[in-house]
Amino acid sequence: MTNEKDDLMDKIVSLSKRRGFIFPTCEIYGGLAGSYSYGPYGTTLKNNIKRLWWKKFIEDRCDMYGIDGPIILHPKLWVASGHIGGFNDAMVDCKKCKKRFRADHVVESATGLDLEGDLEKMNEALKGIKCPLCGASEWTEARLFNMMFKTDMNGIDEPVYLRPETAGAIFVEFKNVVDTMRPKLPFGIGQIGKAFRNEIVVGNFIFRMREFEQMEIEYFIDPEISWEPIFEDFLTKQEEFAGELGLTSDKIRRYEHPKEKLSHYSRKTVDIEFDSPFGGYKELFGLAHRGDFDLKKHSEFSNEKLEYFDGVTNRRFTPHVLEPTFGLDRSILVSLLSAYHEETIGEDTRVVMKFPHKLAPVSIAIFPLLKNKPELVAKAQDVFDMLRTEYRCEFDDNGNVGKRYRRQDEIGTPYCVTIDFDTLEDDSVTVRDRDTMEQPRIKISELKNFFKEKF
Ligand code: GAP
Repeated sequence: MTNEKDDLMDKIVSLSKRRGFIFPTCEIYGGLAGSYSYGPYGTTLKNNIKRLWWKKFIEDRCDMYGIDGPIILHPKLWVASGHIGGFNDAMVDCKKCKKRFRADHVVESATGLDLEGDLEKMNEALKGIKCPLCGASEWTEARLFNMMFKTDMNGIDEPVYLRPETAGAIFVEFKNVVDTMRPKLPFGIGQIGKAFRNEIVVGNFIFRMREFEQMEIEYFIDPEISWEPIFEDFLTKQEEFAGELGLTSDKIRRYEHPKEKLSHYSRKTVDIEFDSPFGGYKELFGLAHRGDFDLKKHSEFSNEKLEYFDGVTNRRFTPHVLEPTFGLDRSILVSLLSAYHEETIGEDTRVVMKFPHKLAPVSIAIFPLLKNKPELVAKAQDVFDMLRTEYRCEFDDNGNVGKRYRRQDEIGTPYCVTIDFDTLEDDSVTVRDRDTMEQPRIKISELKNFFKEKF
């Protein structure tokens, strides 16, 4: 019997390719492990999620500033942040089947022990553990591996790095944002962009990749104010955002990192996890209280004062920071998983992606009933031109209407408008609802009002 959850991942991967959401990249060259290209619908879905995030966390708030920093930053930044010295995972190879694993993951799934970073204990624990793939118990020594991607840049003598998180690009612009925008504390700086980590193991489709995107905020606060309500408010907003991606509240939970596992500077870290089809709850978003660690470190390494002057209390100090972070690709994955539905209709199974309206790559599809009837095609073209300036529209005249509905169901299009012979008589069209499959007839002159209510 197939496991229903494994099955779901397979179905999502297959639909993503079949319908132009996500392709395994470079297939013509044999593929590149764990790397994917977003296809036309996937790119629109991604942009819709970015837009939703940017509006909710940046544009709709008076205390947020958006920036867009480079992927390659000054290498000293990563020394200051601790990434050069400590951004490591432990890896181990099975001597028999030659497969490479994250050592902490092997130990944790066999014993339940979380030995993150403790090589000695990990090597000890590995002695009694079998390779999950071939069953042998012959491991190399577990060793630390730095996950930074290194490259060269003309004019710089030392290696430079692709950023492993967007956060670094925010901290280095703290002073510029304070000087140019004159914000009052508390305020945040947010960014969306690529991050690169040379992960030891990638997988579960777009869940863990070496090149991915993050949406992050560094939220600066006066260390003397009570930070707990702001922290709680961010958690609530993160959960709200998970809901806007389509996740129901029973599929998410908060995981608070135990105090003894926190970095010395962090007061609290909570992950928002989702119920995944690949091994239980997994991290979707995170929220950390990072104290003044980052600004102090960058100040120490750059010799620039990274402080804030409060004119009301006449105090100069280093703000503390709360860091809400969101994985964009994981947001896309949960929106695909949540949208996927199979419905039995008579002998048939209908696959339908029930994306929230704001996320659906196509909002309205417009069909002439037959493509070889110029009067139907012309009328459908008029309706398409009328709606396309306000909605994401697609014109489709391929195949029979039933097949076109099936295709749009798999893309997740909330409404399909069909222009048929009656349209030529009474200027009305059928509007088929993706979720209810009802097909009321609506006058073309009423369509804009109809959709205004729906979207
Ligand atoms: N600045 C904090 C930071 O980067 P993180 O927990 O390492 O924290 C933040 O990463 C988010 O980035 C995660 O919650 C996850 O959604 C996403 N993420 C991290 N590693 C990833 C990977 N290899 N592939 C896809 N998404 C990843």
